[in-house]
Amino acid sequence: MSLQRLAMPGLRIFLTGAGVSAESGIPTFRGAEGYWTVGAREYHPQELATHYAFTQMPEEVWAWYLYRRAVCRAAPPNAGHLALVEAERLLGEQFLLVTQNVDGLHLRAGNSRERTFEVHGNIDYYRCSENCVAEHFALGEGFLPFAKDQKLSAEQQALLRCPRCQAWARPHVLWFDECYNEEFYRYDSSRTAAARAVALISVGTSGATNLPVQMGYIAAQRGAFLVDVNPEQNPFSQLAQQQGGSWLRESASTGLGKVVKAMQHG
Ligand code: APR
Repeated sequence: MSLQRLAMPGLRIFLTGAGVSAESGIPTFRGAEGYWTVGAREYHPQELATHYAFTQMPEEVWAWYLYRRAVCRAAPPNAGHLALVEAERLLGEQFLLVTQNVDGLHLRAGNSRERTFEVHGNIDYYRCSENCVAEHFALGEGFLPFAKDQKLSAEQQALLRCPRCQAWARPHVLWFDECYNEEFYRYDSSRTAAARAVALISVGTSGATNLPVQMGYIAAQRGAFLVDVNPEQNPFSQLAQQQGGSWLRESASTGLGKVVKAMQHG
């Protein structure tokens, strides 16, 4: 399938999901490694990644996030991430990266903060759970390493407080029982960008969340060229095929290598 249209001028949006980080060894969210034991009970990630769980057992939710963060911090960016850094270098202001990944690997690989929208947040940051201030703060080098099923010490608990009001701090991530917004997650900016994109390239996402799927439909309605990179069929691969776009049925690193080449040479 031809990728020539990727070389046309205009905004090109890359929309990434967990599949991009799979090649760095980060387990997928819904995989077996995501489970967490509290007492005699095993929790599913979708139960723990909620505001409700945080209100019931903040120490346990924090311990789970600190473990996942330690896994992300130990993982190196892979060739797929580096291809996206190259894409930004080539396209400049005609490049936008919208990622569902909270692992921060795109930024560590070298994509700019300005052109990377982390629409589900970033596990390396925390903010006030009471929203006393619309700001997020880096966890820095604290809490590393953090073992699976490790418990928070009293000293660690005392550190996980809002620097302003001393309420519990919370991970700077979007939970399943919360809504997107512009302030923390660039909701409006992402939708607006999708409406003016000439191409949308989705990579390694199952299309299970709301904003990314909306972006796919908005871009399709406006006639953008759609490319999906994923070994498995998903809503984006179907949409791309329906719209005369392209489904690259391969890994993120291989597919992104082809996409970036096509942007240079058509
Ligand atoms: N290259 C490309 N794609 C891959 C690879 C790979 N090497 N390995 C797996 N995939 C694909 C899978 O086929 C699947 O479609 O990546 C996708 C991963 O899907 P999910 O685990 O559902 O990840 P994602 O789409 O990012 O999830 C969205 O849901 O759980 C929440 O907030 C969490 O951000 C996450 C969101």
